Amino acid sequence: MRRPHIAVLNGPNLNMLGLRQPGIYGSATLDDVEQICIQAAERLDVGIDFRQTNIEGELVSWVQECRGRFDGIVINPAAYGHTSIALLDALLAVDLPVIEVHISNIHRREAFRHHTYVSQAAIGVICGLGVRGYAHALQAITDLIEDEG
Ligand code: DQA
Repeated sequence: MRRPHIAVLNGPNLNMLGLRQPGIYGSATLDDVEQICIQAAERLDVGIDFRQTNIEGELVSWVQECRGRFDGIVINPAAYGHTSIALLDALLAVDLPVIEVHISNIHRREAFRHHTYVSQAAIGVICGLGVRGYAHALQAITDLIEDEG
């Protein structure tokens, strides 16, 4: 059996990690987050494709492309989680397990961050654990894929 492949997708402004509001998001850069994911993937013996975009339509297209190519999706939709029905529809259309990640605890922040459309497509949500949340999400989705298989 081939090892599971997981798409790790990141939405807008996450390319600014390390510079952006470090009191909320910490000092790790997006490259550091990718390294955390690569190390977690090696430990879990899964393949990953790590991507970031600032463009909503590109994120929607990447989600669509996951169908038939990947076994699960870990997504930090960033602000599009709070706004994008198109992203929710794409995640519902691909018929894959989804884990949503937020670096910050969105429930301790402004009210407009408390709701995310993406959560309706996600099996689970990890928020507030910093960039380590990505490693937890990869562990969780690998467990889910193994349970399914
Ligand atoms: C975020 C939380 C969102 O509310 C925000 O728009 C982001 C980052 C997080 O990882 O904590 O861009 O998704």
